[in-house]
Amino acid sequence: MDKKVTVIGAGNVGATTAQRLAEKELCDVVLIDIAEGLPQGKALDLVEAAPIEKHDAFIHGSNTYAASAGSDIIIITAGIPRKPGMSRDDLIKTNMNIMKGVTAEAARLSPDAVLIIVSNPLDAMCHVAFDTSGFPKNRVIGMAGVLDSARFRAFIAMELNVSVENTHAFVLGGHGDTMLPLPRYSTVAGIPITELMSAEKIEALVNRTRNGGGEIVSLLKTGSAFYAPSAAAVEMAEAILKDKKKILPCAAYLEGEYGINGLFIGVPVKLGAKGIEDIVQIKLTDDENAALQKSADAVKGLVADLKKLA
Ligand code: APR
Repeated sequence: MDKKVTVIGAGNVGATTAQRLAEKELCDVVLIDIAEGLPQGKALDLVEAAPIEKHDAFIHGSNTYAASAGSDIIIITAGIPRKPGMSRDDLIKTNMNIMKGVTAEAARLSPDAVLIIVSNPLDAMCHVAFDTSGFPKNRVIGMAGVLDSARFRAFIAMELNVSVENTHAFVLGGHGDTMLPLPRYSTVAGIPITELMSAEKIEALVNRTRNGGGEIVSLLKTGSAFYAPSAAAVEMAEAILKDKKKILPCAAYLEGEYGINGLFIGVPVKLGAKGIEDIVQIKLTDDENAALQKSADAVKGLVADLKKLA
């Protein structure tokens, strides 16, 4: 195929991402992992599914980076997942070192690629990838808001017994406990959910969304969510590969937008061939703005921790 996407980390999120990219026939995929045989085995298994799934995307598995050269997009899922009871922030040191290593290797061979960061703690990992790659800010994007808003949409659809396709949800802020789902801008067939549900019910769905990752971790017991995270990463990749100019909530490096400077935080962005082509600024109420600044402060704290650990 004429597009190539490298997925680093062939674990649950990475392998499912490779599967979705291939089955949507968006690109060839290079799947990389440090574990010997793992990316090769999963890639071969996916190639052998292709005749049944009817696609001609090729999936190549490797422990080295040579085959990734010239990728259009690099999706980084390498890291260790959250264990039950562990916060995303506990993961920070291990995943920081992994992120540094894989970004350096991949960026060197694909200097024009767009980086999509998936590893947690997300906002902090975006900073590591941004600093390590030296890529411009439009080509380093964090996957968080698409996942968080998909969770919110799923809960809204279940609550109102409507098609998920009718739902739209808006989530701002960091990918953590301070994330900021915005009910005013969350709709069913264009109708704000504030017209359709009680304030208490909305509050319950907002809290469930904030704890969405933790809820899955405590059910799975080993490992964390991967079906929805991989779907979210692939929606972003598709928007870039097809130059769709799609507006999606993503972690972006802000320089003054929303009054935030020098920080990756979740905001609505326009995704196209150049990566982030625009940051959409919406008007927030005083309360919403205060909550966003609080979320930004939490990310700032994480970034400060990173600097101490580095
Ligand atoms: N280079 C390449 N791959 C690596 C490296 C490295 N330096 N270090 C670890 N990996 C690989 C592991 O070998 C493993 O196969 O990353 C993979 C991670 O897969 P899983 O443990 O299955 O974790 P997963 O559920 O896929 O989550 C990955 O995404 O959603 C986030 O919080 C999650 O940070 C975690 C990441």
